[in-house]
Amino acid sequence: MTVTEIAHAKINLYLDVVGRRADGYHELVTVMQSVSLSDTLTAEREEGEGLSLTTDAALDTGESNLVIRAARAYFKRTAQPFGVRFSLQKNIPMAAGLGGGSADAAAALRALNRLDGNRYPLSVLCEIGATVGADVPFCVEGGTRLCGGIGEITEPLKSRLQGSLVVAIGGEGVFTPWAFAELDRLRGSSFAAEGDIAALRCAVEGGDLAAAASHFYNELEEVILPARPMVGRIKETLYQNGAVAAMMSGSGPSVFGLFREEREAAAASSALLAIGARAFVCKPLA
Ligand code: C5P
Repeated sequence: MTVTEIAHAKINLYLDVVGRRADGYHELVTVMQSVSLSDTLTAEREEGEGLSLTTDAALDTGESNLVIRAARAYFKRTAQPFGVRFSLQKNIPMAAGLGGGSADAAAALRALNRLDGNRYPLSVLCEIGATVGADVPFCVEGGTRLCGGIGEITEPLKSRLQGSLVVAIGGEGVFTPWAFAELDRLRGSSFAAEGDIAALRCAVEGGDLAAAASHFYNELEEVILPARPMVGRIKETLYQNGAVAAMMSGSGPSVFGLFREEREAAAASSALLAIGARAFVCKPLA
């Protein structure tokens, strides 16, 4: 039996770092949004108990890969392992703040569950996912979610936002632990809630694009903007081409632009290619 799962990228419409735990992880208030940009994972059940992964990307396919880590976590829970051959087609840029690895891990959990006769509800897959990475529970369910804890406690939001997105990236990737360590260096131990999450929530649920855009926020921008000049250039190009909002996603260096019309997004994407960025026109997913 073979199953296919689509692993959607996410962007952060809001990311406020509100604390630091004793284990070094950071407490967040974040709104994550699934987008149509995606990887594709197929999983084939095999004889025996072996796991294998092939991919078209330059990516380690061993035990450190999040697909394999997710599979190990799944079988740790069931204690009834079976053999699986995974194949991963990557489109989501890596080390970009788009949650690509977490999306692949979540897709692996959904795929294994299907191969296993839908043993678990999604809530259990989220629990297993939380042991693999902070963003994995979000990626198991997707949509628009307000997330707390270290990102793993999620609450669905009913987004009425319409519009097109451009997700763009240029220059070197960002190693997420480095971004958080830099923020610690800047902030010391003083973290405070910075943005207006209540206003954002209200605008997202009310479908008010301009109001929502005015409350988009990403605290990690202040760390990444000076270190990755392309982030600023991409934001500028998005605004010059009519974006209602342009902001870095996650720990960067990807940037998303929100547009009222798809043709504006397409024009912005061409302008971004001209400055040497990679750009993807995509849609938010409910
Ligand atoms: O959970 P995940 O493996 O995706 O996180 C990668 C790294 O990002 C962590 O090891 C940690 O350094 C940092 N991180 C953090 N606080 C979060 C999420 C991630 O400090 N809420």
